[in-house]
This record gives sequence, C-alpha cells and structure tokens, in this order.
Amino acid sequence: MATLPTAIVFGGSGLTGSSIANALLERKEFQVKVPVRPSSLDKPSTVDLRQKGAIIIPFDLVGSTANELQELITGADTVISAIVWEQLHQQYKMVDVAKKVGVKRFVPCDFGTAGRRGVRKLHDLKLDIRDYVKASGIGYTFIDAGFWYQLLLMCTNEKQTSYPWLYEDSRYVWNGGLVKTAGIDLRDVGQFSARIVADPRTLNQYVFAWGLEVTQQELVKYARKYGDPNVEIFPKSTDDLRSFIAGAEDMRLVYCHYQHSMWILGENTIEKAKLPEFGGALDARELYPDMKIRPIGDYAREFYKK
Ligand SMILES: NC(=O)c1ccc[n+]([C@@H]2O[C@H](COP(=O)([O-])OP(=O)(O)OC[C@H]3O[C@@H](n4cnc5c(N)ncnc54)[C@H](OP(=O)(O)O)[C@@H]3O)[C@@H](O)[C@H]2O)c1
Repeated sequence: MATLPTAIVFGGSGLTGSSIANALLERKEFQVKVPVRPSSLDKPSTVDLRQKGAIIIPFDLVGSTANELQELITGADTVISAIVWEQLHQQYKMVDVAKKVGVKRFVPCDFGTAGRRGVRKLHDLKLDIRDYVKASGIGYTFIDAGFWYQLLLMCTNEKQTSYPWLYEDSRYVWNGGLVKTAGIDLRDVGQFSARIVADPRTLNQYVFAWGLEVTQQELVKYARKYGDPNVEIFPKSTDDLRSFIAGAEDMRLVYCHYQHSMWILGENTIEKAKLPEFGGALDARELYPDMKIRPIGDYAREFYKK
C-alpha cells in the first residue's frame, strides 16, 4: 500500500479537533498525528483517537521551543490547528516552522462564524493570523463554520450547558428573533474539514462549512417542542447587548460578540460569507453536494433528552 500523506491536528483531542481527527481517520486519506499535552494523554477523546489509529504524540505546544516544534512538524504534508481560543497566538510559531519545513497546506484555527473585521475581538485575532499565513507564502486553507447546533439551541435546563450563565443567555432573543444565521452539527465540522483538506480546489481558499440557516424564532420552537413547552424566553434589544458586552469578560464576552455578529448584524450567512469583504468563501455544500448534513431537528431531539 502506498504511504498516505501525513496530517497533524493540533488540538486534536478537543471539540473541533476531535471532530476533524475522527473524520480524517474515517476517510483514510491521511496518516493522522495528534500532539496532546502530557496531561491529556489519558483523556477519553485521546484514548478514542489512539484506538482508531491516530498517532498520539505527547507535546506541549505552549512550552515548546521552535526546534521541538520543527522536529514534530517535519514530514507533515498538512497541518491543521484546532487549538483552544486562548492560545491562538501560538500559531505564529507554527506558521514559521511550517514554512521552514515545507508543509504543503496549513489550516489555522478558525472554525468560527462568518464576519467582518472589527465586530468580534476573537475573529479579528484569527484574521490577523490569516494575514500572517498569507504573507508567509505557504499553502493554506481557511475554514469557517456555522455556529454549532450544540451552542445554538436554547437551554431548557442547567444540564444542557457547562457554562452556568449560558442557561439563561441562550434564551435571549434579539430584536424579535427574525434574523437568520448559519448553523452546523459539530460532527459535520470534521466531516467537511476532512474533505476540504484533501481537495486541491480548496488550496489557498477560504471555505465556509455550514448545515442550514435558522432564526431564533425557529430555535424557540425547538426548545418548546422537544425541551419545555413553558420555557421562559427573554426578549432583548441591541442596547441590551451593548450593556452586556460592556460588563462581560472571558468566554461570556466572546459569546456576546458572536451574538452581536450573528443575530444583530446578520453576518453569519452563506450569502455574506461569499462576499469579498467577508473573505470570498467557497460554499462547502456546493463543493460536496453528496455530504449528508445532520438536520438540526435530529440534534434537537438528542439535546433535549439531557
Ligand atoms: N463555530 C462554532 O460554533 C464554534 C464553537 C466553539 C468553538 N469554535 C472555534 O473552534 C476552535 C477550537 O475550539 P474548541 O472549542 O474546539 O477547542 P477546545 O476543545 O477548547 O480545545 C482544543 C485543545 O486545546 C488544548 N487546550 C485546552 N486548554 C488549553 C490551555 N489552557 N493551554 C494549552 N492548550 C489547551 C487541549 O488539547 P490537549 O490538552 O490535548 O493538548 C484541547 O483539546 C476555536 O477557534 C473556536 O473559536 C467554534
């Protein structure tokens, strides 16, 4: 059997990373290497990937030197980064090393929703990294995705979220809830990404992977149908969001910025993602019309069993 090209998935034990690594292993077009911090070697997602054939490499990206990173990346054809959002700056050294050792395609950690510069701090950071990748001259693919169904659905009990504040915040309905936004099942982020990184058409392109578009009014219907028919919904305005943003920090601030982009400005749609000022995305659904999209209704039934 001919040797498969190698893909390294940084953050491969994480939510996005394991979705991608699993799909890559399933499709068998790459040998998959996953660097994980020594403290994560026995994490269930790491154990699962190892069992499925991933090569797990103990590696602490944050504490690593350029030489250690170079040793790790040498020989890789494709490098995919799906690291935690607080460590995105670590990607600058990844890009330098990837260029030095001749990586053919670098996929930075985007996997967020579509949007312009200047609305979300986290998105701006990611756009800075995209600029750095482009300037480096290495091959790349930038992948954004719809907002995960796992975060779009409104919580009807506390067990449905690991962030206590999200129990109520998930039921804030902005300006009547008629703006549509693109969503995707987290598992389909990996399915799309595995196709995208093996596809010559997506080299040096920006791709938007999405499942469907949905409004908050539709999300309320799912919450009432499958969760709790009497669940309380909180109507909110743009001014409310501004004051939340002023008082929020860490993950809640990131979430508020996403809410602003998606539900107030309506930035996160396939139509917008394709615009030049949003990066001129290729539509993953058009590239892979055979890909079976998981419907949000199916996931809602699963989600509201919790
Ligand atoms: N579209 C959406 O709806 C959506 C939703 C959420 C996130 N995202 C985006 O998806 C991307 C990946 O996020 P994620 O939520 O999938 O990541 P994650 O699961 O939180 O973290 C990924 C990996 O980073 C490592 N890590 C975690 N905390 C760390 C720390 N403090 N220091 C160093 N490494 C640490 C862990 O790897 P090891 O321990 O194995 O080393 C972890 O498995 C981000 O760009 C994020 O913005 C998009």
